[in-house]
Amino acid sequence: MLLFSNARKAEAEFADKTRDMARKKTLSPIDSLVEAEPVREAARALVAAVQHESANRTLSAKSYDKCIRELERMRGRPLMMPMLTSGAGKGARVWMADGTMKLDFIGGIGVYAFGHNDPDLLETAVVAAASDSVFQGHLMPGPEELRISRALLRHAGERMKHVWLSLSGAVANENALKMIFQKHAPADKIVVFEGGFHGRTMAMAELTDRPAFRDGLPLTGNVLHIPFYNPDDPNSTDQTLQILEGHLKRFPGQIAGLCAEIIQGEGGFRTAPREFFVAVMGLCKEAGIAVWVDEVQTFVRTGELFAFRTLELDDYVDIATAGKLLQGSATIFTKDYSPRAGLVAGTYAGSTVGMAVGTRIIERLESEGYLGEEGRIVLLGGRIGRRFRSLAKRMPKAIGPCVGTGAMQAFVPWNGAPEIVKAVVDTAFNEGLILLSAGSNPGKIRMLPPVNTTDEELEAAFSVLEKSLAHVREEFGLP
Ligand SMILES: Cc1ncc(COP(=O)(O)O)c(C=O)c1O
Repeated sequence: MLLFSNARKAEAEFADKTRDMARKKTLSPIDSLVEAEPVREAARALVAAVQHESANRTLSAKSYDKCIRELERMRGRPLMMPMLTSGAGKGARVWMADGTMKLDFIGGIGVYAFGHNDPDLLETAVVAAASDSVFQGHLMPGPEELRISRALLRHAGERMKHVWLSLSGAVANENALKMIFQKHAPADKIVVFEGGFHGRTMAMAELTDRPAFRDGLPLTGNVLHIPFYNPDDPNSTDQTLQILEGHLKRFPGQIAGLCAEIIQGEGGFRTAPREFFVAVMGLCKEAGIAVWVDEVQTFVRTGELFAFRTLELDDYVDIATAGKLLQGSATIFTKDYSPRAGLVAGTYAGSTVGMAVGTRIIERLESEGYLGEEGRIVLLGGRIGRRFRSLAKRMPKAIGPCVGTGAMQAFVPWNGAPEIVKAVVDTAFNEGLILLSAGSNPGKIRMLPPVNTTDEELEAAFSVLEKSLAHVREEFGLP
């Protein structure tokens, strides 16, 4: 078994090296342009000028509030958190348009890979912005599409042969769903996990297990649920398998595939051991239905680009979707799921800047030691875990179970009641730390920090968190 896994590793390493050599040999002109020092220097000068200007432009407290209220009026709904950024920031710190600073441990819900205003990414963005088009269409792809597609496939494993780019995670998911239905036609049902989140389009609102997110929408009734792993129930895997078997028996030939979030993002960073996924996905394989993993939120955060590879589920997964940290979105799939002409298209493949920056992020993750079991992302998870344990020694009742991996971490405050979760998030926000809730029963508070978060930033964030927890303890009379 060990021999087999070593052989597989060596084979994979050889394939990676070969692909890398091939990549270097076929550098497109844009690669050398992006790397050309005079171009980078000019970009650096522009970035510095913009940064200098934005640092000097702040609104008075009154104008700031007015702008936020105007934005809310135009949106027709309050902002989730009342803020307007200035364009200035550094690492995990971001400045608001009124000149105040916040520690950003959510990063626009997971989109800032290296924090705010990373100089190298800004230069990459400037170079890309000065090229032909702001957005690239599927009809006329530029070199940025070539480079990001290569970068994604370098990390997707041997079985994944194709990649289709799109703008948002929900659209990447729509494309995955269409590919699955087309391949398995006339099957018209899809199995999803309870507690999953997959986006905001009509179809994704139905795949998502949150009634409020589909309130008032007409449903197709073609989504079948199975329970996610419950670590407190020793029969959890058997129960999920039984329910999946029940669906397969009740709807023979009508189920096209399974959609899974390996770590449930909005659902509260719940995950499962590899054996659970092997059992469930193995049953799907036996039944001849597709296995699709939605990695829009997990993308990069587990220490590999794809969490399914962290869990060595390569043999089971047919389609994976990515987004957020990619600065665009993508559907990655095996040859068997190639759509016929006409099924998947659309005007935009992505923004030129998004594709160039997404590629650069992947290259830096590779070259600066972020990936792998001992990479900087996994180590960041350990550093955050230690901070939670130390805080729990001082406030044992306030820090409930901590969950997560790498650069996605969450904890349950007290009993996780919704009003307590909200109070902690709101207090932390007012004290200068951006966090977000996730899941329910119990509710959690999540962090999606930059992968390069420093110890100093962690220290500052945890000290605001401690202060906020103390405030909420007093306000609610908690232990
Ligand atoms: C797991 C998952 N899937 C899909 C989506 C939808 O992505 P987007 O908001 O880019 O459409 C999200 C967004 O939070 C997500 O977390």
